[in-house]
Amino acid sequence: MSVGLKLVHKVPQELTEDEVSQCYKLVRKLRPMYIASREPWDRKSKINEMIETEGMEFILLLTETGDVAAFVSFIEKDYLYDIPCVFIWELHVHPDFRRQGLATQLVYQVLERAGNGDTERTNKCADSNEIRDEQTLAQEENTGRVYLRSFRKNLLALQFYEALNFHEVEKLSDKYSVYMVHEP
Ligand SMILES: CC(C)(COP(=O)(O)OP(=O)(O)OC[C@H]1O[C@@H](n2cnc3c(N)ncnc32)[C@H](O)[C@@H]1OP(=O)(O)O)[C@@H](O)C(=O)NCCC(=O)NCCS
Repeated sequence: MSVGLKLVHKVPQELTEDEVSQCYKLVRKLRPMYIASREPWDRKSKINEMIETEGMEFILLLTETGDVAAFVSFIEKDYLYDIPCVFIWELHVHPDFRRQGLATQLVYQVLERAGNGDTERTNKCADSNEIRDEQTLAQEENTGRVYLRSFRKNLLALQFYEALNFHEVEKLSDKYSVYMVHEP
C-alpha cells in the first residue's frame, strides 16, 4: 500500500462532511456514464443514496492530511435481487493515486468481509488500519459472494474486476450494466 495512507472503516454517520464531499466528487467523475446509461443524476439524490442507503459501510484510504485517496462502499445484501451477499456500491480512486494497487486493496478488504478473502494477503496490504473486528456476513449467512454492478461503458472497471476474478452474471445484467460476482 502507498506509504502514509491509512485504512479506515466507517458507517456513513461517522464520515465528516468533508469526506462525504470528497467521496461525492470522485463519484461525480462518472456522471457522463450515468447519463449515457440513462441513470438519473443529481447531487442531492446521489449524496443521499451514498449515505442513507440502509446498511451502507465505507472503507477509506486517507492521506496524512485526511484527503480521500480512495474508497469503497458496500452493503451486506444485493440491492436489486435480495441475494444474500456483500454488494459493492461504489469503488473510486482519486486520479493522483491510480495504478498503485489501492482499488485492489479495497476489493480485498471487501472480499475478506464477505468471508471470501485471503487473510494473509489482506493483512499484508492493510498494515495500518482501523477495520472493526465484526462478524462478517459470511459467518452469519455463509455465502461468501461479492456482487457489484458496473456500467457496460466502463471498460476500465470491467477489466479491473475481471483481473480480480469477478465474472459477469448474464441473467442479472441489462443493456447498460453488467452484474458481476466473485465467488469463493
Ligand atoms: C477502476 C479503478 C477503481 C481502478 O483503481 P486503481 O487503484 O487504479 O486500480 P489498481 O491499481 O488496483 O489496478 C489493478 C489492476 O487493474 C487494471 N487496471 C487498473 N487501471 C487500469 C487502466 N487505467 N488501464 C488498464 N488497466 C487498468 C490493471 O490490470 C491493474 O494492474 P497493474 O497496475 O498491475 O497493471 C480506478 O481507475 C477508478 O477509480 N476509476 C473511476 C471509478 C470507477 O470506474 N470505479 C468503478 C465503478 S464500478
